[in-house]
Amino acid sequence: MTTTAVCGLQWGDEGKGKLVTRLAENHKFVVRYQGGGNAGHTVYVDGKKIVLHHLPSGVVAKGTTCLLMPGMVINPVTVLEELEEVKALGFDTVGRIWISNRAQITAVYHRSLDQKRESGEGVIKIGTTGRGIGNTYADKAMRFGVRACDLLDPDSLFELVQSSLVQKNLQLTAWGEEEFDPQVVTEELLNQGRQLEPYITDTSMQLVNAIEKGDSILFEGAQAAMLDLDMGTYPYVTSSTCLPGGISAGCGVNVGRVGKVIGVAKAYCTRVGLGGFPTEELGDAATHMRDVGGEYGSTTGRPRRCGWFDTHAVRVMVRLGQIDGICLTKLDVLSGLDEIKLSVGYENWSQEGLPASHREFDVLKPKYLSFKGFDADLSSCKTVDEFPQAARDFIKAVEEHSGVPVRYISTGPKTDQLIDRGA
Ligand code: IMP
Repeated sequence: MTTTAVCGLQWGDEGKGKLVTRLAENHKFVVRYQGGGNAGHTVYVDGKKIVLHHLPSGVVAKGTTCLLMPGMVINPVTVLEELEEVKALGFDTVGRIWISNRAQITAVYHRSLDQKRESGEGVIKIGTTGRGIGNTYADKAMRFGVRACDLLDPDSLFELVQSSLVQKNLQLTAWGEEEFDPQVVTEELLNQGRQLEPYITDTSMQLVNAIEKGDSILFEGAQAAMLDLDMGTYPYVTSSTCLPGGISAGCGVNVGRVGKVIGVAKAYCTRVGLGGFPTEELGDAATHMRDVGGEYGSTTGRPRRCGWFDTHAVRVMVRLGQIDGICLTKLDVLSGLDEIKLSVGYENWSQEGLPASHREFDVLKPKYLSFKGFDADLSSCKTVDEFPQAARDFIKAVEEHSGVPVRYISTGPKTDQLIDRGA
């Protein structure tokens, strides 16, 4: 049995979608186990760009079966739109894409509360995507979350929505917002449930069957290690376990040791939302990365903060995630810069891990190695030997300081612009 996992090593948007699309060609099942509509995976089908939020990027590889597991939070409105988009591109959906009956449902009130809280006075702002992610996971933990199975059961649904809205409506009215009518919300969700019914099933049993049969399975992580609820830069994180440790819990299945775990990292680093970013750049180099790399959020359109690759942070995440190899993306974006920097530790932090306190993390001062820039079109290179010496030196230093080989290098947005250096 082949099992592979793909996980982001920075703050998301590393370009995981492209690697997953490529790897999915050799896997029967593609599985998403955490997160929801906050994700934005850009993939290309016959030159056409499509941004996926809930559906795994592996959906565009023909012949795959896609499972959305209990650890996910699903916004029925967005997922229905995505299903339509994928169908319009000629892919089968019914019988091929499955949503766990235990997955949590993001309703209109979750989004509203998320957005309201983020715009409120006197509260810690996270810079969320405004998709109601944290609020949905909070309801799950409080045990009045609506799950996909409830969308198919009018009585249970009304009871859950009504009980969930008791507190939420009090909060919303205290903020000067309109209340939600449980009857109206229930009707909307039931309507969405009727459309989603062919997709809703017990995906955990499907996964167990696949494991027992020895089928090949690709686990597709969303967000990234530095946004992991426990090990990321808390509280400026998302509300799920993004590190590979979250796979078993998110699937409801002990998947065992995954065969190969690939961590995806950009040749530089970006972050959307708030929170510390020790290697953040504010000058011309950042403008270059943002403009050339198209660093604008695929879910929210927000400009991404840009900075240099941080090997200490990546090394920590590589070790926590037991990563076997890195997929280094967007190296081509650095072409044209006079100087490229690589952070190899911090002047004011000498411990093995990262500070747990965001106040300590915020003031880390990176120690940089400086590399000569290069000016070359990497996109047509088929091997790393064809790269300029400066680019090769940079890759070698990334490997040395991150403590893991660079297995794949992405040299452009197209699926075939990916160099596989072998195991
Ligand atoms: P939330 O997941 O919407 O609650 O947002 C929490 C934090 O995670 C914010 O900093 C978001 O910008 C960030 N975030 C969530 N999803 C993604 C993603 O797919 N890519 C990059 N950042 C993300």
